[in-house]
Parts: sequence; structure tokens; C-alpha cells
Amino acid sequence: MSDTNFTASRGGFTSKSGFILAAAGSAVGLGNIWRFPYMTGINGGGAFVLIYVICLCLIGVPLLLVEFSVGRHGKANAIDSYAKINEKVKFIGYIGLFSSPMFLSYYSVVSGWTIYYTVRSFTGLRNVPADVMGDFFGSFISNPTLPLLFLAIFIFLTVYIVANGVSDGIEKYSKILMPILFIFIVILVIRSATLSGFKQGIAWYLTPDFSKITPAVIVAACGQIFFSLSVGMSGMVTYASYLKGDENLIKTAGIVSFFDALVAILAGLVIFPAVFTYGFEPGAGPSLVFITLPAVFNAMPFGSFFAFIFFALLIVANLTSSISILEMPVAYLIEKKGFTRPKAAIFIGVIGFILGIAVSLGFGVWSGVTFFGGMSIFDIMDYLGSNVILPFCGLAAAVAVGWVWNKGAVAEVTNGGTNSQGLGRIWIGLVRYLVPILMAIIFMGQIGIIKLG
Ligand code: TRP
Repeated sequence: MSDTNFTASRGGFTSKSGFILAAAGSAVGLGNIWRFPYMTGINGGGAFVLIYVICLCLIGVPLLLVEFSVGRHGKANAIDSYAKINEKVKFIGYIGLFSSPMFLSYYSVVSGWTIYYTVRSFTGLRNVPADVMGDFFGSFISNPTLPLLFLAIFIFLTVYIVANGVSDGIEKYSKILMPILFIFIVILVIRSATLSGFKQGIAWYLTPDFSKITPAVIVAACGQIFFSLSVGMSGMVTYASYLKGDENLIKTAGIVSFFDALVAILAGLVIFPAVFTYGFEPGAGPSLVFITLPAVFNAMPFGSFFAFIFFALLIVANLTSSISILEMPVAYLIEKKGFTRPKAAIFIGVIGFILGIAVSLGFGVWSGVTFFGGMSIFDIMDYLGSNVILPFCGLAAAVAVGWVWNKGAVAEVTNGGTNSQGLGRIWIGLVRYLVPILMAIIFMGQIGIIKLG
């Protein structure tokens, strides 16, 4: 098969907006609507938001552009795309390949919970008094079978979309789901802006208290950015490999990052005023969305309706993310192992489901299975994923692109020097120096080699 045939048979995005929506869809998900608000909640509010925005510009956007450039240049699955820069750096793609089913599994478990909450928003959730909301959540996630049903539904939907291909699956559903996401979040922001505690919530959320900025807060903000922008696992490499070649990558990375930050900040705008209006605590942690928020909805007029919109928003946002996690290994299996697309999607989906069963049972009958002093199966995956694998691959990708590829990378992001040359130079400077240094510090802090804060 000639090279051109191979490229044509891979399929691809049919429009620039289709790619932007798909990449933004990958970025926007649990990371923005669940993880960002609770991380802000436990890290002191405005100070965390400020650090998040700074790190996003200095580390997040450059790394997103790193993945975009590798993918569009390679026009193949992530392993071959990295190999095209240098055989020695294809391990970055392999790490993504092997970690993808793990990300898919725990991501889908939590996404399954959001389906359950959507279904129960009109029946069930609203009858639960605030002080037993925690028990409601706890008894659901520890149930040995019910969460598995919702896990299966979520993975099925993910596999279904990916099995349909890049333009008829990923692009088509991103174009349908992203506008829905936007409408839902606007409805919720309007609701929140009309609450009596709006001012108080906003003041806490957006006024930085500089005394709360510690090294640990900076580490937390950076970890959040990796997860939220989907960088480090080569998912964005894979998406960008379906681009034709004349897109302005710098602009696209800017738009996608802006949209990702916007949705995260809007999610905080939805949650914190409501939390303050009804006298709840912003620092509840991971249960903020599943325990605090349903109680908040119950306290407001038409709360069931808003709960429904909120959890349906999460399903939509999560689906456009999980398909990007799945597409990464699927592209590899199709191109390197001769799988058909549906077979590849089902194969990885089944592995994700099996791992997901373990994650889910880890909240109930297997809660005795713990690692490193008390981490559950979910905790260990989230920890390894966000705090070790993503930062490590991000660091490796920055070195590979900045130091090994270097001039070729600049040519790629500036389309051969035809646009944004100044920005291209700033970018490569960040990728060669600032990003690796910051990443190395953060990475060592994360795995405890050095003590931060
Ligand atoms: N970015 C998504 C979110 O915020 C999650 C996600 C999608 C992801 N693809 C990824 C996380 C790849 C890590 C790696 O919810």
C-alpha cells in the first residue's frame, strides 16, 4: 500500500471546526466539572485558580502544542508518530498505549455514576435529606452490581462512537454533544447568578488569598492541568494525526485551552455560589459533586430539573473525553495489528470494562484491597495516572520535541515558517527550557523524591 493510500484509508476530520470541537471535547470532562471545582475547594479558592491559569499558559498550552505537532507531522498512531521524530522516543507512545485502558476504566466508573445520578435526579435524589446524601452516595458506589451496569452503559456508548470512525463517530458526535454541553452550562450559570449567595461565592472563588499559595498548591494546579487538557497520554497526538496539514496549530491549541479553562471556571461559577447560598462547605473534596451538590439542588426551587441538567452535562462532557482515551490504542491496533476499527474498539472497551469492575468493586466488597498505606484501587490508578504517568510523559515529550526534533518542530507548528514565526520561537523556548525544568521539579515533588511544602 502506498503512503498516500494509507493516509486516505485512515480517515480524518472533515473540517477544522470538527477537529477543534473534538479536541475541546477531549479536554472538557470530569477534569473540568468534577476535579477542578473540588481541587479549588480544597486548595483555598482564588489562589488556586490564579496559579492554574498561570501554569496553563506556561506549561499546558505549550504541551498541547507539542502533542498536536507530533501527531500532525506523523499522520499515524502515536507510536509511529513519535518514531518519526526519533526511534528512541517512541516509548512515550507505548506508555500511552498501555496506560489508556487504565484511564478508560476509572474514568468510565465515575462517568457511570453520573448516568445513575442523571436517571435518579427526578426520582430518588430529591427525596434524600441533606444529612443522608453521603449515605446515598456511599451505598450506591459500594453496591457490587448496580454501578457495573452504568459502567457497562458508558463504555458501550464510548465504543459505539469510536467504532463509527473519526468523521462519522468522533467528529459527528463532538459536533452534536459540544453545543449541548455549552447550552447546559449556560443554563446552570444563569441559575447560579440569580442566587442570593452569588456574591459571596464569587468572592471566595475568585479573590486570590496570596497567603494560600504554597508549593503544594502549585503542584496540585499543574497535575490538574495535565488531566484536564488530556496531555501526556498521546490522545491529542492521535487526534492531530487525522489533520490534513494546513491548520494553524498555535491558534488551535490556544482555542482548545481557552475553552477548557472556560468550562472549568464556569463549573466553579455554577457550584460555589450555590454551595454558599445554602450554607454548605466548599472544601468537601471528591464528593463535592456527588454529595454536596445534590443536597444543594434539593434546597433550591426546581432543583430536580437543575440536577438533571448538571448530571446530563457531565455525561455529555465525559463521553467526548472517553472517546479520545479509547481512540489512542484503537488507532494503534488498526494500523499495526490489522484489527478492524469495531474490533479494536470492542477489544480495548472490554479490557477497560474488566479493569473498571475492579475499580468499582474497590469502593465496596474489595475496599480491603489497598496500596501504599490505604489507597484504594481507584486512588492508585488516579495517582499513577495523573501524578506519575502524565507528568513523566509530558516531560519526555517536551525533551523529545524541544531537544531532539527542535527545528523540525518549529517548522511544523508554523506551517513551514508561513505563520506565527514569533510565537513559534517563544513556544520552542518554553518547550526546551521552562517546561522541562518546571516539570522535573513537579514530577519529583509528586513522587516524593523532593519535598514540596
Ligand atoms: N481531559 C479529560 C477531562 O478533563 C480527561 C481525559 C481525556 C484525559 N483524555 C485524556 C486525561 C488523556 C488524561 C489523558 O476530563
